[in-house]
Amino acid sequence: MKHETVLLQEAIEYLNIKPDGIYVDGTLGGAGHSKLILDHLKGGFLYAFDQDDYAIEYAKNVLKDYSHYEIIKSNFKYLKEKLNERNIEHIDGLLLDLGLSSFQIDDVSRGFSYLKDTDLDMRMDRDQELNAQTILNTYTVDELAKIFYVYGEEKNSYKVAHKIIDRRPLKTSMDLVKITDQVNRNEKGHSAKRVFQALRIAVNDELTVLEDVLKDAVDLLNPDGRLVVITFHSLEDRIVKHFFKEQSTSHLPKNMPIISDDDTQMELITRKPVYPSEAEYEKNSRSKSAKLRAARKK
Ligand SMILES: C[S@@+](CC[C@H](N)C(=O)[O-])C[C@H]1O[C@@H](n2cnc3c(N)ncnc32)[C@H](O)[C@@H]1O
Repeated sequence: MKHETVLLQEAIEYLNIKPDGIYVDGTLGGAGHSKLILDHLKGGFLYAFDQDDYAIEYAKNVLKDYSHYEIIKSNFKYLKEKLNERNIEHIDGLLLDLGLSSFQIDDVSRGFSYLKDTDLDMRMDRDQELNAQTILNTYTVDELAKIFYVYGEEKNSYKVAHKIIDRRPLKTSMDLVKITDQVNRNEKGHSAKRVFQALRIAVNDELTVLEDVLKDAVDLLNPDGRLVVITFHSLEDRIVKHFFKEQSTSHLPKNMPIISDDDTQMELITRKPVYPSEAEYEKNSRSKSAKLRAARKK
């Protein structure tokens, strides 16, 4: 199994790597981005985070010829503390290439796919306790419906949630697909797509950790440091877009008699999202939903 890195050259270009700088790859995965970052460093250092043991083992092999890096097995929500433990208080760039790697999607046993019958798991970090089964079999109808509606934009969220409660206990992906097939009978795409996306986001708390890491990044970045984020669905992209806008827009009232009217910490580098090229779309269908946004610390 191999993970095809998305927006490789673009991400490196927006990171604007200083050869002696300190960089963080928050989502190591198959190490495609990390490898190219390391190629640009001379005297600098890379810290690479991932919460998935398989990705880490794979990446170690990809990076076996390099020494100026450390892999940290952790959720990137602990970025600040993990770096502080290493006496690192400032960095020159952070890259986040969100979501799953192909290993995770293609490995049926991980339970991310609605196309194969497998245990409902969906944990990126297999040391974590909460998995998809626990959510489906223990949450209230309101909690379930909220997850499907907010994280999946599922319009039949209550119908799905009620059927789940009636059918408990659910064990495998097909237990859930049978329900979405009934509720979303007239759907054009797969009936379970939105519900599976929502569950995955809930199991891994993906949106909260993204909001947290973006705030930490602003504190950690040196002046002129870069924050580059690649997202794969609209909920993630909305968070990044709003965050960048808020951090680059002045909140001071206009016409105040003050010396500077700029209280912003970041400067937007990408006014619009950057998309993969046609050639990349053709080569890698998973790149189709990717969007890159980048900002610079002032
Ligand atoms: C899309 S892949 C990254 C691919 C990588 N950029 C490459 O070039 O191969 C995302 C990776 O980030 C990891 N990941 C996602 N969210 C994470 C989080 N909150 N903390 C740590 N790792 C995370 C996943 O386990 C997965 O391996």
